[in-house]
Amino acid sequence: MLRCVVRSFGPAARVVATEEYRPPEPGPGEVAVRMALAAVNPSDLLTVSGAYASRTVLPFVPGFEGVGVVAAVGPGVTGLVPGERVLPLGSAGAWQQIKVTEARWCFPVLPELTDEQAATSYINPLTAWRMTRRYVPAPAAVVVNAAGSAIGRMIVRMLNRAGTEPVAVVRHPRGYQRLAGLRTAAVVCTANEPVRRALPEAVRAAAGGVAPAVVLDAVGGAEGAALARALAPGGTLVHYGLLSGRPLPPALAAERPDVRVVLFRLRDWVHSAGRDEVERALTEVQRLVADGTAASAVAHVVPLAEVRRAIGLEAAPGRPGKVLLRIG
Ligand SMILES: NC(=O)c1ccc[n+]([C@@H]2O[C@H](COP(=O)([O-])OP(=O)(O)OC[C@H]3O[C@@H](n4cnc5c(N)ncnc54)[C@H](OP(=O)(O)O)[C@@H]3O)[C@@H](O)[C@H]2O)c1
Repeated sequence: MLRCVVRSFGPAARVVATEEYRPPEPGPGEVAVRMALAAVNPSDLLTVSGAYASRTVLPFVPGFEGVGVVAAVGPGVTGLVPGERVLPLGSAGAWQQIKVTEARWCFPVLPELTDEQAATSYINPLTAWRMTRRYVPAPAAVVVNAAGSAIGRMIVRMLNRAGTEPVAVVRHPRGYQRLAGLRTAAVVCTANEPVRRALPEAVRAAAGGVAPAVVLDAVGGAEGAALARALAPGGTLVHYGLLSGRPLPPALAAERPDVRVVLFRLRDWVHSAGRDEVERALTEVQRLVADGTAASAVAHVVPLAEVRRAIGLEAAPGRPGKVLLRIG
């Protein structure tokens, strides 16, 4: 059997290796899942880099999202049978041929989803769903940055379903094409230097002079701070990604003490919600994947043995969709 392994933190293209291994038999309460496809997500590469070193034990097998089929069940497992298609979640380890994991962390897959849809039906769809439900419950003035990213487009589609047309911020003119067919109040492109320098004003002008009530921020750093400055008094910045590689500046709290900054991490919710609640939410978002609202474009499907090529493709600017690892 083949798996990826990380023995020291660092740039993924350098430290992710492949090796042969013999998977253990599933123990009590465990199942062995034969993985079919797994996603390569920003959170995988961040974890490999050592960003979450305090909660990541080396060596480890990366991959937080993927789909497979139950190959064997351990003693005491009920409700799962060999041959059943599942999402084995709650831990890394999707980038290997057999993932042995706790049965309670395996969730069913709607039969109408293809493996490609199933392999991208968890992290971004559930995050977009939770954030829009919790922080944008009704039509509101909303800004979404990195709006051309996979999750950015899902957020815009979910907001559209709820009657909201957000201001979308993109970093490159290709963002306009990425958002084709979606309803936005306006698209603001930060490739334009004067726009970047006066982003709060540009965003408010794009919203027809209205200060936003909510910003969904996947970028952080200077851009996240500029969007926080654009918020209406008492507004909320939901900070959920670090695409700039930089945190929000600490000075922001003193500058806009009235603004609520919420740090959203899907894993916090998934690990605190009960299994039934996670399963209900997954069923709902899988329906949204099936109808296209939470669908991801797939740009490349790369064999597991070529994981470093997959990582290189993931890092390339302008990538038109997700990179998946073909494992089965
Ligand atoms: N907190 C959570 O629980 C959670 C859950 C899911 C996702 N996220 C975060 O959401 C973000 C997006 O994830 P994804 O899976 O949707 O990514 P993705 O679409 O696979 O890749 C990110 C895309 O964003 C664009 N981008 C990269 N750097 C950018 C920057 N500095 N400013 C604006 N756009 C930039 C790039 O497109 P172009 O090259 O075309 O510009 C890139 O293709 C990541 O930071 C991820 O960690 C967080």
